[in-house]
Amino acid sequence: MLFYLLGLVVLLVLYRWYRETKRVSPADKYVYITGCDSGFGNLLAKHLDKLGFCVIASCFTEKGEEELKKASSERLTTIHLDVTQTESVSRAAAFIKTKVGGKVNKMMKEEFDRLPDADLMKVVRCMEHGVAAVHPRTRYSPGWDAKFFWIPMSYMPTCIADYMLLKNVIKPAKSVSDVENIFYGVLQAILSNLLSLILASIAVIAVAYYVRDSLKIGSIDQKWVLVTGCDSGFGNLLAQQLDQQGFNVIATCMTEKGSADLKHVTSPRLKTVILNVTDSASIKNAEEFVRTEVGEQGLWGLVNNAGRSTPIGPTEWMHLDDFKKVLDVNLIGLIEVTLQFLPLVKKAQGRVINVASILGRLSLTGGGYCLSKWGVESFSDSLRRDMHHFGVKVSIIEPGFFKTAVTNLDLIEKDLRRRWNQLPAEVKDSYGEGYLEEYLKAQSFSMNILCSSDIAKVTRCMGHALTARHPRTRYSAGWDAKLFWIPLSYLPSFISDFTVSALLPLPKDN
Ligand SMILES: NC(=O)c1ccc[n+]([C@@H]2O[C@H](COP(=O)([O-])OP(=O)(O)OC[C@H]3O[C@@H](n4cnc5c(N)ncnc54)[C@H](OP(=O)(O)O)[C@@H]3O)[C@@H](O)[C@H]2O)c1
Repeated sequence: MLFYLLGLVVLLVLYRWYRETKRVSPADKYVYITGCDSGFGNLLAKHLDKLGFCVIASCFTEKGEEELKKASSERLTTIHLDVTQTESVSRAAAFIKTKVGGKVNKMMKEEFDRLPDADLMKVVRCMEHGVAAVHPRTRYSPGWDAKFFWIPMSYMPTCIADYMLLKNVIKPAKSVSDVENIFYGVLQAILSNLLSLILASIAVIAVAYYVRDSLKIGSIDQKWVLVTGCDSGFGNLLAQQLDQQGFNVIATCMTEKGSADLKHVTSPRLKTVILNVTDSASIKNAEEFVRTEVGEQGLWGLVNNAGRSTPIGPTEWMHLDDFKKVLDVNLIGLIEVTLQFLPLVKKAQGRVINVASILGRLSLTGGGYCLSKWGVESFSDSLRRDMHHFGVKVSIIEPGFFKTAVTNLDLIEKDLRRRWNQLPAEVKDSYGEGYLEEYLKAQSFSMNILCSSDIAKVTRCMGHALTARHPRTRYSAGWDAKLFWIPLSYLPSFISDFTVSALLPLPKDN
C-alpha cells in the first residue's frame, strides 16, 4: 500500500513538473506592466522583452521611460502612467487598446518598493511563469521567508501566530502585567515537549480549555456595551439579550423607528442613539453621547455589527462605486467607529467584537462584501495584536448564512436584475441569454438550504466574547461555517474554486 502511495506521489510530482514547464509562444503576445521605473516591474519588463513578448511598460517618470527603452529591444513600448490620476489611466487604457487591437492582453500591477529579499529575480520568475505558462498557478509565493515562514504561519492557529509575533516585540510603557502572558508561556512549554506530552495531555487540555472557556466576568451591571446596527437582525437581538442579562446597553440604530421599536421591547436601562457609520459627524456625535453616559468606567464592549450586503454578484457586473458603497459601511465605517471609541474601551480594558463573515475567509462572489469582510479580519488581527499590551481583547465573529435583511433574496435579486438590464450587449452575450435566470435559481436554491433562521447562534457567540473571562479570537457561528466553509477555506484553491463554481451556472463563453 505504502509503495503504491509513494509511486502515486512521484507520478503526480512528475506530471506537475511537466505541466509547469510548458510555455506559450511569446510571438504577438502583448503584456502590459505598471510601475516599470524600477524594482520588479522594471526587471520583469526587460526579462519578458528578452523572451520575445511585446511589452508595454508604464513608467511614472520620463527618466524611467528613457532608461528602460535604452536597456531593451525596439519591440518594447513605454507609456507614462500615474495610477492616482483617472485621466492618466484612461489615456493608458486607450493607448493599449489601439496597440493590441482585438488581442487579449494581460494586466499586471506590481508596486513593491521595499522588500528585504534582494534577489528580485525570484519574484520576476514567478511573474514570468504567470504570464507565459500554459497552466499558470493561482498563487505564487516567491522568497524563502514567504514559503517557509509567513505562509505556513498564516495557516497556524492564531494563538501560535500571535505568540511568535509578540515574542520579540518591544512592549509599550503601559503594558499590562505578564499575568496576561501566562497562557502563551504554558503554550510554549507544551509545544517544546509536544511529542512526549501529546497523548497524556490531550484529555487534560480539553478539560482545561472547557473550564477556561466557561469562566465568566463579574459585575455585569456596572459594564457598558455599545452595539451598532440594532434596527434589525443580529444587533437587535443582541441588544435585547444583553439588556436582559443586566448590561448597560447603548444600541445604535439607523432610523428613529428602529430605535423606538427596540426601546419598546427592552428595559428603561437600554439607551439608543442614531448612528450612520459612513458619516463622521454622526460617529463623533455618538461618541460624545457614549462618553458622557459611561463616565470614568469606560466602555466595556464595542460590537461592530452594522453592515450591508448589496450590491453583490458577478464582479464584471459592478462599477467602482458599487464596491465603495459596501466598503464604506462594512470596513471604513467599522474602522472609524473603532478608532473613535478605542480610548473609551482602553479605559475599561474592555473588548472589541467585530462581525466579519465566512465570506471573509472564502470569497464566494463579487462586489464589495467579501472584500470588506476580509478587511475586517485583517483589521481585527492587527488591532488584537496592538491592543494585547493594554488588556483590550479583540474577537472576530464569522457567521455562516442566516436569514436576515443582509441575505434577503428579494433585495439581492432586484439589484441583480437591474444590473443585468444595464449590461452592454457584448457582456450579456458572453454569459448567454438565460444566464441571469439560472444564476438567480441556483442562488435561491443554495441560500434556502444554507440560511438558518436561528440567529441566536450568532448572538450567543457575541455574548460569549463579551462575558467570558477569556474570549476566543474567532467564533464561527452556524453548522455551515464550522463544517463546510471554514474547512474549505484551508484547502488548496483548485478544490475551493471547483466547489464554489459548482454552486453557480457556467457562462455561455466558458
Ligand atoms: N445574515 C448573514 O447571513 C450574515 C452572515 C455573515 C455576516 N453577517 C454580518 O452581520 C452583521 C449584521 O447583519 P444582519 O445579518 O443582522 O443584517 P441586518 O438585519 O441588515 O443588520 C444590519 C444592520 O446594520 C444597519 N446598517 C446598515 N448600514 C448602516 C450604516 N451606514 N450605519 C449604521 N448602521 C447601518 C442596518 O440598518 P437598516 O436595517 O436600517 O439598514 C441593520 O440594522 C453585518 O455586518 C453582516 O455583514 C451577516
